[in-house]
Amino acid sequence: MCMPALALSLKGIMKQMSGNTSSGKALLSDFNAATAKAVLKRYAADARSAGSVATGKGAAQTRDLVERFDKMATTADAAAQGTLDEAAYRKAFLSIAADCKSCHSAYK
Ligand code: HEC
Repeated sequence: MCMPALALSLKGIMKQMSGNTSSGKALLSDFNAATAKAVLKRYAADARSAGSVATGKGAAQTRDLVERFDKMATTADAAAQGTLDEAAYRKAFLSIAADCKSCHSAYK
């Protein structure tokens, strides 16, 4: 059987973000720069996908959701550039985790 290549729903992308957050959390106690970069790149890619499918109630909410996902992608991308040490990773991860929380308290 051949399944069509459907774009993930926001819910599906959120599940991926949640899995990526488990990997990201583990790095806080057992840091590895290569894995940390992969986690950040994954956040950036997932945030971009989420921004392309997210819709709120009306244009203003949709714009706000897209902006929030953009911000998350920018934070993740910026931190994934160049040398990534543990302190820089921790800062980016905590900022991204705060983005999850603040968007969920507004929209989830
Ligand atoms: C810009 C807004 C926004 C950001 C940022 C965001 N989320 Fe979400 N999240 C949502 C919304 C809206 C839903 C509800 C989606 C639905 O039920 O269709 C949701 C749902 C979820 C769910 C439940 C999925 C399910 O199966 O019902 C999980 C888990 C989740 N998010 C994890 C995360 C994690 C982890 C992060 C950060 C790395 C994050 N989200 C960042 C808006 C956001």
